[in-house]
Amino acid sequence: MAPTGVDKHRWWKDAVVYQVYPASFLDTNGDGWGDVPGITAKLDYLKDLGVDIIWVSPIYKSPQIDMGYDISDYKDIDPAYGSLEDVDELIKELKKRDMKLMMDLVVNHTSDQHSWFLESRSSKDNPKRDWYIWKPAKYDADGNREPPNNWAMILGEANSAWTWDEKTQEYYLSLFTSEQPDLNWENPELRAAVHDVMRFWLERGCSGFRMDVINLISKVQDFPDAEVTVKSHKYQPGDKYYANGPRLHEFLKEINKKVLSQYDTITVGEMPFVRDEDEIIRIVGSEEQELNMIFSFDIVDIDNAPGDFKLALHPWDARDLRRIVTRLQRLMIDRDGWNSLFVENHDQPRSVSRFCDDSDEWRDTGAKLLCLMQTTLGGTVYVYQGEELGMRNIPPEWDPREYKDVETINYWKKMNAKHPNDKEKLNEARKIMQKKARDNARTPMQWSAEPNAGFCNLAGERGPWMRVIDDYKTVNAAAQVYNIVVGQMSVWQFWQRALRHRKQHKDVFVYGDFAPVGDESPSVFAYKRWSEHEAFVSVLNFSGEEIEWDIPADVGVERWVAGNYTADEDVDKPKEGKLTLGPWEGLLGQCRVG
Ligand code: GLC
Ligand code: CA
Repeated sequence: MAPTGVDKHRWWKDAVVYQVYPASFLDTNGDGWGDVPGITAKLDYLKDLGVDIIWVSPIYKSPQIDMGYDISDYKDIDPAYGSLEDVDELIKELKKRDMKLMMDLVVNHTSDQHSWFLESRSSKDNPKRDWYIWKPAKYDADGNREPPNNWAMILGEANSAWTWDEKTQEYYLSLFTSEQPDLNWENPELRAAVHDVMRFWLERGCSGFRMDVINLISKVQDFPDAEVTVKSHKYQPGDKYYANGPRLHEFLKEINKKVLSQYDTITVGEMPFVRDEDEIIRIVGSEEQELNMIFSFDIVDIDNAPGDFKLALHPWDARDLRRIVTRLQRLMIDRDGWNSLFVENHDQPRSVSRFCDDSDEWRDTGAKLLCLMQTTLGGTVYVYQGEELGMRNIPPEWDPREYKDVETINYWKKMNAKHPNDKEKLNEARKIMQKKARDNARTPMQWSAEPNAGFCNLAGERGPWMRVIDDYKTVNAAAQVYNIVVGQMSVWQFWQRALRHRKQHKDVFVYGDFAPVGDESPSVFAYKRWSEHEAFVSVLNFSGEEIEWDIPADVGVERWVAGNYTADEDVDKPKEGKLTLGPWEGLLGQCRVG
């Protein structure tokens, strides 16, 4: 059980974090690409929403093969985004508003254009050779060259994770794309270089890091073949041997001791593939001195087909959501860990399209339903740009050429090579892209009904780097923030009120206890949250059907204080007996304590 009587409040627990995807946030110089001054220009908008911290996806120098997750200089800004001075200005303006900056730390790999890698690949005896993972080829019985093992590339639609280097006649490990060579964390000089990068940004005034795929930094050193789990592919998911590897905790503790412990920071580790509870607590347990929290993938993996790659469609319902959420909420309470709450980011489709219904009829309701859930669970809340407006996925009619992400492009190429002229198969692939591709979250932010959704003001012919979703004339920030209609509430206004309410009752929502309520249901997910002094219940209908739900007698609802069908703070619904919930309806009730 969690220790009692200890003050468990921390600023990074009740703070609200907002993720900015800088290329698509706001362009201030008319080149069609978002920039750092564009972030600075919108700080009042974010402050009004209730945001305390912004996490900015990578703005470092980069060839942009993977939208900045391929870094060629950790200590400089890509000219497309601005300059170091622009970042100093951003930090200054954040501080004025009592807000903070988190940088994205991408240190599992660099770009193949980073000077470290250029040196490393220059010769076998270069001092930086060992900063990356180099291996000789294997040869089959016929003498054909093969990679050192059968691991599949993550963004390369199941090609080999190893890239051949002609010059030095060896393979290097590149788990994401060939242009993103993996760093060798076994090398202490490399680790010291990473610590130095972290200090550079903390000294400049950043308050912490989102750590990109940080659980992949330690690999099993004999690099074994992965078990064959995807029969149709030559190369196989190797995560068993590179996710949460043997020295991960040692490396994280070293980062903590040498760097983080000397500053007051917030840290969140992106951790795909990890389900094991002991492993999670070893990282986020309050006594562990590793990271404050992680991004677990359970919710956003809900519709991935087991044993297949992520571009697949798998049915799910509210029982899955209940099981996943309950497990993580209880884990953190029972074992004194900490959790992050997110349903959207730059690698995922839009949440309203994915978990609810993004039709004109239900988009607004669905986005508010998700907001009700996100703002009433325990953990640190992360909001992704556009989520606060209920932005949707790319429309099905768009041509595949509108998709810009390297993962999607590789997938589409592969499908075309595999099924040339097979209309049915290719239509199915397009459907999957429209539902699951990362591009869905990367379209320009919809600020207003102006041309290009107010994202950029372009002179000349060039458009924004990625096409704006066609619905921007109705779905945009200007309409949702300033258009005050009595008795109505926009998605943005609903988020603003919900975040305020969460902070007013943080002992319940951030720090309180959790239990699922009622029987398992394929439609309704309900749970109770409470502290010593207050209690609330959330009842969420994750289906497009009208549902009757029996309020368990012991819930003790006194008043329904919010719902996504009305702007009222006293929602007129029965407090006991049968509750009728409309499609995608969600309610928050205040309950008797005890
Ligand atoms: C993370 C990032 C993703 C990137 C990958 C490789 O998953 O969020 O965008 O492609 O790491 O850096
Ligand atoms: Ca720009």
